[in-house]
Amino acid sequence: MSDARDKLTLEQKQDFYRDGFLVLKKVIPDELVEASLGRIKRAKKGENLGGEKEMIDLVNASPLTPILHEAMGYFDPPVHCQVGVMKQSQPGEHFNSLGYKDKDMPYYGAQIHMDGSQTINAPQEVQEGSEEEIYYRYIASGPKGDLGRSPDVMGHNMVPLFQDPEMTLALGSFTAFVFVCLNDQTEDGRGQTNLLKGAHHEMEKFFKWQYETNGHLGPEGPDWPRINYEAPNRCGLFYIPDSVQQKFVDDSSESTPDGKKWARPTPVKMDKGDACIAMYHIPHSGSRNENGTESRKNIIFRLRNKKRQPDKMVNGVSDHPDRGQMGEWLEYEEGNDPWERSKQAMCNMWDEWEGMQEVVKEQRAKVN
Ligand SMILES: [Fe+2]
Repeated sequence: MSDARDKLTLEQKQDFYRDGFLVLKKVIPDELVEASLGRIKRAKKGENLGGEKEMIDLVNASPLTPILHEAMGYFDPPVHCQVGVMKQSQPGEHFNSLGYKDKDMPYYGAQIHMDGSQTINAPQEVQEGSEEEIYYRYIASGPKGDLGRSPDVMGHNMVPLFQDPEMTLALGSFTAFVFVCLNDQTEDGRGQTNLLKGAHHEMEKFFKWQYETNGHLGPEGPDWPRINYEAPNRCGLFYIPDSVQQKFVDDSSESTPDGKKWARPTPVKMDKGDACIAMYHIPHSGSRNENGTESRKNIIFRLRNKKRQPDKMVNGVSDHPDRGQMGEWLEYEEGNDPWERSKQAMCNMWDEWEGMQEVVKEQRAKVN
């Protein structure tokens, strides 16, 4: 059976609307899968394959391009991607970005987050001092050193602390993720991408509420502190708003040793040649490849509807394309406020999905 055609069915669009992601079985032709696997095999130690033709062709030369053109609209063909190859590993003793020991986290160490969030390496000692001291010490420990609280502060993931000069937008944004799977991830604990199914609706609602409250979106906006001083290392990140996390906590949720419950994510079980498309708005995470017999291989793309900024080239990997890859400030013409455009896209998540409009209308009519 193959979904390899140029357009999502009505049913697929309805599923995508509801879940915020959709798996397309065997959508990548075998020859493209084998070419990219061959390229990974030939890689020299430490070589970055993100810009190699064999990798970006997984979108550019596969049915994913026509499918996304129809569902989303035009986007720059990616020139780069994230090569998510993850070796088999065991639970670790280190503090993760959430401020918890990796071995204490449920769900194979998943750290559910929104993309475009700045991440400075987590302090490995339990932090001392006031919350303010911990905050300033943390933001001074990034790759650019101590710049105070500034939009020039960068994370080790090369995402700025704030996107805009006024520090009202603390997340980068785009339209769609594509995860292409190159190995068997049909069993639990093989490093699957995890998603918080349906949480895109809650994130959109939350962004709208933040916007109406004071126009500040993301961490450090209303009801979304950046740092969780209650985490075991006293300096964990709130990667999603706690109010959204709590909406998905139920009887099936697992806890960390401090008793905090974590919403159970859905591991995306795919096999070689499958791909998952997902909304920017969906909280997600990689997970530990604990049970795998080989390295986990997901090739990750980030695409943005060209209409957001027709003059700006999006490279296919950046989660903060309103700034340069390394946080450079880009030039925008008079009257083009990129921060406001991105806020509008975050508050109105279907606006950049041109082929979803009928389904959105039909589904919203059902609820109301
Ligand atoms: Fe991510």
